[in-house]
Amino acid sequence: MALKMSVVFVICVLFAASMAEAQLGEIISHLLGLIRVQGTVFCTANGRVNSTSASTPVFSNALVQLQCNGNVVSSTTTNNAGVFSMLLDPVQLVLSSLQSQCKLVVTTPLSTCNATLPSDGVLISLLQTLGTIVSGLLNITTLGPSGFNFLQTINN
Ligand SMILES: *[C@@H]1O[C@H](CO)[C@@H](O)[C@H](O)[C@H]1NC(C)=O
Ligand SMILES: *[C@@H]1O[C@H](CO)[C@@H](O)[C@H](O)[C@H]1NC(C)=O
Ligand SMILES: *[C@@H]1O[C@H](CO)[C@@H](O)[C@H](O)[C@H]1NC(C)=O
Repeated sequence: MALKMSVVFVICVLFAASMAEAQLGEIISHLLGLIRVQGTVFCTANGRVNSTSASTPVFSNALVQLQCNGNVVSSTTTNNAGVFSMLLDPVQLVLSSLQSQCKLVVTTPLSTCNATLPSDGVLISLLQTLGTIVSGLLNITTLGPSGFNFLQTINN
């Protein structure tokens, strides 16, 4: 009887230990691999930098969403320099699916930054990998917009 109990106890301890190890592995993979999506939104008709202009105005306080298969996965707002940055959970999002199923959508109307620009429609861009940096134990893969385009909202 006592032997049986101790066998059960040992099995329980082993089980708990492997659970803890699995959780630790998950936590470590969270720390080791990070995905960052960042870029700049410009206050132009297509949201892109104007290469023929000396300085293109930026689109600050614009809401930028990361949409994957129609769902908003993450969202943020551009700062005063028109820059946005979002850090994603790599467990939720597989890097390869990010580029095939996700897009960046700027939902704040362009007229907010320049009254002569449209007051409806969105800016949309696919994603491209900008690079991977390894900093200590961290492996940060950075993606950015491959190029915004204006999409008129169709109201019926
Ligand atoms: C880019 O800048 C040039 C010079 O300021 C201007 O003439 C042109 O219309 C701009 N293009 C766009 C797409 O805003
Ligand atoms: C506003 O947009 C128009 C049309 O693109 C452009 O000609 C004008 O220079 C812009 N104004 C500012 C302050 O950027
Ligand atoms: C960092 O992550 C990327 C994308 O997941 C991967 O291709 C690369 O091999 C990783 N690099 C290191 C040093 O772990």
